[in-house]
Amino acid sequence: MAGISSEKINEIRDSVDIVDVISSYIPLTPKGNNFFCVCPFHDDNNPSMSVSRTKQIYTCFSCHATGNVFKFIMDYENVPFLEAVKRVANIGHIDVNINTSGYKKTDNVLYDIYDFSLKIYMNNINTAEGASAKEYLKARHISEETIKKFDIGLALTKKDVISKILLKKFKEPDILKSGLVQKNEFGYVDLYYNRIMFPLYNLNGQVIGYSGRVYHGEDTTSKYINTKETEIFHKGELLYNYHRAKDLARMENTVIIMEGFMDVIRADTIGVANVVATMGTAVTPKQANIIRRMANNIILCFDGDEAGQKAAMSCSDELLSLGVMPKVVVLEDNLDPDEYILKFGKEKFLEKINNPLSLSDFKLNYLKKNLNFDNENDVAKYTNTVIGEINKIEDDILRELTIKKLAKETGLDESIIREKVKVPTDKIKKVEIKRSVTNNNVKIDKYQKAEKCLIYYMLLSKEVIKMYNKKITYMPTYKYRSLAREISLFYKEKGNINIADLINFCIDDEEMSNTIGEIQSMNLKENYTLEQIDDYINVIREYNVINETNRLMELMKKETNGAKKAQIAQKIIDLKKGE
Ligand code: UTP
Ligand code: MN
Repeated sequence: MAGISSEKINEIRDSVDIVDVISSYIPLTPKGNNFFCVCPFHDDNNPSMSVSRTKQIYTCFSCHATGNVFKFIMDYENVPFLEAVKRVANIGHIDVNINTSGYKKTDNVLYDIYDFSLKIYMNNINTAEGASAKEYLKARHISEETIKKFDIGLALTKKDVISKILLKKFKEPDILKSGLVQKNEFGYVDLYYNRIMFPLYNLNGQVIGYSGRVYHGEDTTSKYINTKETEIFHKGELLYNYHRAKDLARMENTVIIMEGFMDVIRADTIGVANVVATMGTAVTPKQANIIRRMANNIILCFDGDEAGQKAAMSCSDELLSLGVMPKVVVLEDNLDPDEYILKFGKEKFLEKINNPLSLSDFKLNYLKKNLNFDNENDVAKYTNTVIGEINKIEDDILRELTIKKLAKETGLDESIIREKVKVPTDKIKKVEIKRSVTNNNVKIDKYQKAEKCLIYYMLLSKEVIKMYNKKITYMPTYKYRSLAREISLFYKEKGNINIADLINFCIDDEEMSNTIGEIQSMNLKENYTLEQIDDYINVIREYNVINETNRLMELMKKETNGAKKAQIAQKIIDLKKGE
């Protein structure tokens, strides 16, 4: 595994207790042999995550998230595997040579190109040509200190500065791939010239792109030019300032979402640092997922204009679909947070942030805008839209309050509104219903149950793995078959089974992780009898026999040679005997 042996990885994992590590993030409560906490990977109200000291894994009985200590850190901190290993090694005081630069740069040369270009842009702003850029920033109340903190740089007026420097150091195809340099019939041209450069970072804090702003001169085609998408730059997967904001957001359990990075920078200048920006595009499901994990309290503070409010509506829907309910700050006079802070000052802005609107208040206000309540058509339109909004609310009390509010506002009878509101089903129930519909065949349930139980005990005991290896030819369900094979391979290689170590094998395989989670959440007794295991095996063998018999029957039907036909028939008889 990328320069570090699996023995070392296991040693690192063994050097800490998952209970201690998780409890440094979330309070754990002992219950029976395990510890319980609120699951950070879904919108959890009752503690549904259990942490097992003996198995050194966590499992959420509700969303089925599962993993070892590395997986927890990867998912909680949004870091890649090796970084998680490094952090655990730190906690366990194990000396290990996973250098940060190895993690920071990985092996993609684009990171190097961006690192290098950043130094150049940052240097440019301090040259004589940078004076007018600094004046511009000063006029916008961006201090020298802020320029440094956010690594703000400058692309000079000449159109081939970066091209020339990069071509000396990197290969042409890589440079073109980075998007910073383009090639035309006259030669190489910089993407950025005469612009103030704001580096964009991925979740780990590595530079992967830029947004370059016009500040003077003739190029007014677009206010900001963004780097094109590359292998390492996917705008929809990052949030501006995430790496700087995440620790504070977690500590304060609050994160503020803005649209523009200038807004984030401004907020930082008044000491509000738990802020990230979506950068002007509609929030993607990936971004919503990252936001959801940052803190429990999410405050949308978008631009005060119509476009900003509309964006806040759609962002809150994206979060709602993950079961997260943000609050919303609405800024007057069409101002964006940057302008608001400059105009009204820190105290007034903080007051706004400390008193956000509930999501339903925000939505009702928004939907009410430009409507005339004396006009029945407008009232009807409003009512129907709000009912649509109520259907998205999962919290019972909030639904109730919103229904009452709507009745009061429109003068309609509550019962009429209630008739049109759908009965809520909570998310987990929905999943279960879906599952039982697809599995309405009782037989499939029986086989799957046997497969799952068998794997549950394979994960606990090599004795069971040996029985599986000896007797099972084929698990009926693909995902269980893959996992069983993985367990079997692990055992073959290590001579034992350890679920916390096995998880490393498939740490990036989402389906397999989910399957382990599903199986762990069965939470069966640790003790088993051999008869019980035999039962599971026999059920699965029954499936195999039926399958194989069917296959042979088909074969026999097609066979024209009498002797061969008889051979197949004999095989079928043997199969049934062995059953
Ligand atoms: P805004 O137009 O609200 O920018 O776009 P802003 O934050 O107020 O910037 P200033 O104050 O004029 O300097 C919000 C975000 O949309 C993206 C940028 O990421 C910006 O932060 N955007 C905007 C672009 O990518 N391109 C543009 O031309 C404009
Ligand atoms: Mn602005």
